[in-house]
Amino acid sequence: MRFLITGGLGFIGSNFVRYILSTNRDARVVNLDNMSIGSNPANLNDIEKDRRYKFVKGDIAHPKLVSRLMRDVDVLVNFAAETHVDRSISNPQPFLKSNTIGTFNLLEQARRSKGVKFVHISTDEVYGAIAKGSFKESDPTNPSSPYSASKAAADMLVLAYCRTYGLDALVTRCTNNFGPYQHPEKFIPKTVLRALSNLPVPVYGTGKNIRDWIYVMDHCEAVDLLLRKGRQGEIYNISTGNELENLEVVKRILRLMGKSEDIITFVRDRPGHDFRYSLDSSKLERLGWKPRHGFRAALEQTIKWYTQNRWWWKPIATKKVLHPTPWELRW
Ligand SMILES: NC(=O)c1ccc[n+]([C@@H]2O[C@H](COP(=O)([O-])OP(=O)(O)OC[C@H]3O[C@@H](n4cnc5c(N)ncnc54)[C@H](O)[C@@H]3O)[C@@H](O)[C@H]2O)c1
Repeated sequence: MRFLITGGLGFIGSNFVRYILSTNRDARVVNLDNMSIGSNPANLNDIEKDRRYKFVKGDIAHPKLVSRLMRDVDVLVNFAAETHVDRSISNPQPFLKSNTIGTFNLLEQARRSKGVKFVHISTDEVYGAIAKGSFKESDPTNPSSPYSASKAAADMLVLAYCRTYGLDALVTRCTNNFGPYQHPEKFIPKTVLRALSNLPVPVYGTGKNIRDWIYVMDHCEAVDLLLRKGRQGEIYNISTGNELENLEVVKRILRLMGKSEDIITFVRDRPGHDFRYSLDSSKLERLGWKPRHGFRAALEQTIKWYTQNRWWWKPIATKKVLHPTPWELRW
């Protein structure tokens, strides 16, 4: 099977490229990534020389480039996106360009290339917050940040292309991922790296905001299953039920690292911070998926990975990236 994977130098994309190459001997992967802030070529150091893998530096919003790459492809998995909510608050423009216009361009090229299966990776954030219960795929979108609005717009385009042009596409909406190769600007790595350096560990607002956490390999397995069993024009939620307050996640990390809770510091909350996300993923589970990694063991493994792979994060974990309130900075 020939894959075009976009955003494959990022966190989830790079884990997925490695997963596909290790589980599917016949896979051929082209990774299209414009090497923007979430990316890191070091994420795929270990497979650079694999003859089944090819990296192309470029933008998913570039029509000619995407049209050329799409010619020899069976499956397109679109991970490419600007992903940091905090940066989308201080500068939304790149989010619209990559997440919405970029997806639009992929769809345009896909509808001209017969036989491409299009898997669009979206997020739980498009539903907005929910106080009680869990969102089903049939619930409307209600995004709160420029990031989630740009992703929701892309989802609408994907679904419209399915109906209007019969494109063989589907949308996945996953909860918060964690694991190796996640950029230090994100919540769990930032907490681990600041704690490793004995810096104060920031918690937004009261720390009561709730997120549902999934280990990145469980997400990769869900996408792989949907490649084979997902139906055209459908949305699939991906979640594990590991719902925790942010403060609790920080406390668990500090406990596992043997650090004192005294280094926790409460900082100004970011605007539009959704209180709780929660998804019902029974539709996916009916296809045979269930997460294989428990939260505690996966968190422990993730902390260990960051502790042992200083070479990976040291060059990118700048003071600005590890800032306690990045949404207040200029990006
Ligand atoms: N991380 C999470 O918790 C999470 C949860 C649910 C959904 N998602 C979705 O999964 C996808 C991957 O997320 P991630 O956390 O790995 O992000 P990431 O920021 O680590 O990686 C994104 C990658 O996309 C690339 N990219 C951005 N704009 C591009 C463009 N215009 N052209 C080509 N490449 C471009 C970046 O260079 C980067 O390598 C995103 O679509 C995100 O919305 C993420």
